[in-house]
Amino acid sequence: VKKTVPPGILPVAAIDRDSDTPLYRQLYEGYRDAIAERRLRAGQRLPSTRSLAAELRISRIPVLNAFDQLTAEGYFESRVGSGTFVARSLPEELSRAALRKADGNPMGRPGSRTISRLPSTLVRSSAQPWFQGPGAFSIGQPPVDRFPVKVWSALVARHSRTGDPGLLHYSQSMGLPDLREQLAEYLRTSRGVRCEADQIMIVNGSQQAVDLAARVLLDKDSPVWLEDPGYFGARKALRMSGARIVPVPVDEEGLDVEAGIARSPRARAVFVTPSHQCPLGVTMSAARRLNLLDWARREGAWIIEDDYDSEYRFGNLPVPALQGLDRDSRVIYIGTFTKMLFPALRLGYVVLPRDLVSPFSTIRRGMDFFSPTFSQAVLADFIREGHFERHIRRTRLLCHERREALVAALGRAFGSSVRVPGDAAGMFLTAEFPDGRDDQAIGFRAAPLGVRALPLSECYDGRPRRRGLVLGYGGVRPAEMETAVSLLRQAYDAAEARPTRSPLREIGRRVAGDARD
Ligand SMILES: Cc1ncc(COP(=O)(O)O)c(C=O)c1O
Repeated sequence: VKKTVPPGILPVAAIDRDSDTPLYRQLYEGYRDAIAERRLRAGQRLPSTRSLAAELRISRIPVLNAFDQLTAEGYFESRVGSGTFVARSLPEELSRAALRKADGNPMGRPGSRTISRLPSTLVRSSAQPWFQGPGAFSIGQPPVDRFPVKVWSALVARHSRTGDPGLLHYSQSMGLPDLREQLAEYLRTSRGVRCEADQIMIVNGSQQAVDLAARVLLDKDSPVWLEDPGYFGARKALRMSGARIVPVPVDEEGLDVEAGIARSPRARAVFVTPSHQCPLGVTMSAARRLNLLDWARREGAWIIEDDYDSEYRFGNLPVPALQGLDRDSRVIYIGTFTKMLFPALRLGYVVLPRDLVSPFSTIRRGMDFFSPTFSQAVLADFIREGHFERHIRRTRLLCHERREALVAALGRAFGSSVRVPGDAAGMFLTAEFPDGRDDQAIGFRAAPLGVRALPLSECYDGRPRRRGLVLGYGGVRPAEMETAVSLLRQAYDAAEARPTRSPLREIGRRVAGDARD
């Protein structure tokens, strides 16, 4: 293969042919200023003198002269066979120039720089280390260590080679028809969802689905029920829409529908995780499901069902989706490939009542038009060729094994000081502290040890009624479980030794939202 030197990015260099300043000098100063102002950075590739001269439509001589001088003064360096680069160590005077520029930092400038109030209502004042970076027990981690990378890469390569221009153009806001067909079949069979392909919209993860549902269904100050404790991602998306969140308690049967009715009988919508409540892990009882559907029909409310990890149930059969019981087209059913495949794929889906297809498409076109076509095509093949089913079956066994290892390790390390409510399902569990130990203090102490333990109290909108830690086990190998749990025990002991209710964190707690960016 012939070695080609990649071209450098051409600078925005204004050349004035009528100026008294010679061309080489204009170029020299243009580059020097670009470096001083840090528009060009150390190590960055420069265009060849030939292509720069051609681009600027000037002779090559002034370009050569300018480059020679910049090289002689230490701004540029050339590497044989690779081209010319901005020098990695820059002249001393430049550091001073850069400092002068930094003094002019726009954040320090006077005058109005007004932005919306939204960001400040979503960000907590204190850092939340349980969301920062990877670590044992992060709840967003499926077992990516066992993802069939080779199969996936082969499908990616196959689609890259086809050169199908259809994959390169704008596409439909509902998503790739092929993928929607595959999904409709899967959801009808495996999840008991009543749907046809034309009701399915492919989205960039379930987070986008909740955002979209909130924009379509809710107006500013519309009351919306949210499970309390509930899923922090949904809380954030709903809050962004300006809707009024009504926290509704969750017990062993799931969302307490009667409590919701007592608090806000005419709510416009409800967000629920009936198959595996996030974060308590309970399954919504049949009676509560019927109550919820009944209330929605009576009041004309919408039910947003987040069915994010229900493929993973251990020991008993999967619970069919709430959507399958709905006879009044009130349920907006959301699913994601984050848990089944991997989070970075950013693909999920919404099954819509037919009359919502058009409003959802309209709003989607105002957001990002549609999800990346290429990944959708790869995923459609992955499902059609049976890799998807195979992977889920394998992952189910794996997660079961990981859950059992975690429960056993917790039992050994904590004995009766922890309780695990909820069903054996999904990729996380909640370890509850019946003595009400400060779960935030433990979360803060666990983080420097490499353990990401989400405090249960963080998942409440109202006053936290239970304390514990939400622990994702999907990404922790059984062999690592014992060590991770012993670190957790250290954090637990340290939290008892020194109570840590810092006033800063208390302020943080009162400010809504979470820091998972
Ligand atoms: C309740 C719940 N829904 C959905 C998701 C996944 O969201 P997404 O599909 O946007 O990655 C998670 C991930 O942690 C979750 O806990």
